[in-house]
Amino acid sequence: MEAKTAESTKAIMTEIVLPNDTNTLGNLMGGRLLHLMDICSAISAHRCSKRMVVTASVNNVSFASPIKLGDIITLESKVTRTFNSSMEILIQVFVEDHRTGKKTLSNNAYYTFVAVDQIGTPIEVPDVTQETEAEKLQFEGALRRRQLSLILAGKMKASDATELKKLFN
Ligand SMILES: CC(C)(COP(=O)(O)OP(=O)(O)OC[C@H]1O[C@@H](n2cnc3c(N)ncnc32)[C@H](O)[C@@H]1OP(=O)(O)O)[C@@H](O)C(=O)NCCC(=O)NCCS
Repeated sequence: MEAKTAESTKAIMTEIVLPNDTNTLGNLMGGRLLHLMDICSAISAHRCSKRMVVTASVNNVSFASPIKLGDIITLESKVTRTFNSSMEILIQVFVEDHRTGKKTLSNNAYYTFVAVDQIGTPIEVPDVTQETEAEKLQFEGALRRRQLSLILAGKMKASDATELKKLFN
């Protein structure tokens, strides 16, 4: 299977926060943001695998500061590493203040998607090659994050998480 560059899996989505997206304080609701992050990440996973993809896990999404009604948000995602049927995607959310135009990084998260066939059975995905130093760093960390995710999902024993253990040695 021909390898893909990380850059070729990039997806970008721009949205404006409308009244239906907000809570009674006029802040973007967390669930709405997660929905957008899921869609953008799924596009990257699809660009990589050219298959149907399902979300397997989402890691640590924190909401440090509110995103306000009228703000413009840009979501950017790309595949950091693939394994057999799974792909890790880094997604970043930038907020553009509608008064000043200043853009700041608001959230980031790692999603794991799995490519599946018509009956939902996981299928192989191509490798992803890294070109930049940042992409290489993301690639290296992906195995650690995968092990942590699998432990939390009860799919791996902590004693088997060799890459995670290296952090403590
Ligand atoms: C995700 C899913 C396809 C995994 O299927 P499965 O039968 O458990 O298959 P496996 O255990 O062989 O896992 C398949 C891959 O998913 C990875 N995976 C499964 N759960 C994971 C998790 N919590 N975190 C990270 N990776 C995970 C496995 O490591 C494996 O990766 P690999 O093939 O690259 O080695 C299946 O659990 C599923 O369909 N879940 C529901 C998905 C869904 O409905 N999402 C929301 C709507 S899209």
